[in-house]
Amino acid sequence: EEVNLHECLELITRLSRHAGKIIKSRINEKKTIETKASSIDFVTETDQEVEKLLIEGIKQKYPHHKFIGEESFAAGIKEELTCAPTWVIDPVDGTTNFVHSYPNVCISIGLVVGCDIKLGVIYNPILDMFFRAIKGEGSFLNDEPIKVSGVKQLTDALVAVEFGSVRSEEFRNIVNHNINYLATNAHGIRSGGSAAWNLAQVARGGIDLYVEMGIHAWDMAAGYIIVREAGGTVIDPAGNDFKLMDRRILATSSIEIAEEVYSKFQQYYPEHD
Ligand code: IPD
Repeated sequence: EEVNLHECLELITRLSRHAGKIIKSRINEKKTIETKASSIDFVTETDQEVEKLLIEGIKQKYPHHKFIGEESFAAGIKEELTCAPTWVIDPVDGTTNFVHSYPNVCISIGLVVGCDIKLGVIYNPILDMFFRAIKGEGSFLNDEPIKVSGVKQLTDALVAVEFGSVRSEEFRNIVNHNINYLATNAHGIRSGGSAAWNLAQVARGGIDLYVEMGIHAWDMAAGYIIVREAGGTVIDPAGNDFKLMDRRILATSSIEIAEEVYSKFQQYYPEHD
């Protein structure tokens, strides 16, 4: 199926700006929360409403496209990734931030065509930062081209990590080990509370390395293409090729730094999406 990526970008820009207004208007309100996969994995009415707005808006123009959305997944709809045009959507990435009125939340939307991530949009409506990329055309923040920092070694790096929402002892030990290794060697450690935000920062050179195991396709799809188009490296944290449904990511400012670190990580392999 032929997909006009520029038309898709135009549509999704309009829809995410609309959705962004809703998120921004509610960031400081008290939220009603439900939990998903664990006691600290949240969903709010806003997540559900925004996902619906995005999916219905896309369906109107592209009735045959498929969707992998965080909130529909939570509702028990498990979609397989096929080669049909598929939108991979996180309506509010950083739900915990949103719940706590911590102003770092992003809408994250990727489009997979022919088994390849071709388009990505990450929008932080609180800071009004709109990141986008189309494969082969570079990455942009609010219409200005962006590039990764190019940092080549961990001792020069600012690193983003997340503690995720898995609470098992095995997982905690692995995360603690990896963060300890990174923190011991890097300039500093940051935890933005949104995978999409961390990836957008790698793309614009604010973060040099971001690693997480146990996240989902919708947290990574848009960021993958935005980092790649900004000149960055995205691989599996064990050094293999990145796979969207494997729930693992290592995104860096250079191949060199990715190769330096991956063999030092303890590995966690969650059940795939
Ligand atoms: C979460 C955020 C967080 C990451 C978790 C994700 P959500 O997404 O991206 O930074 O550590 O693994 O699940 O649930 O807020 O959309």
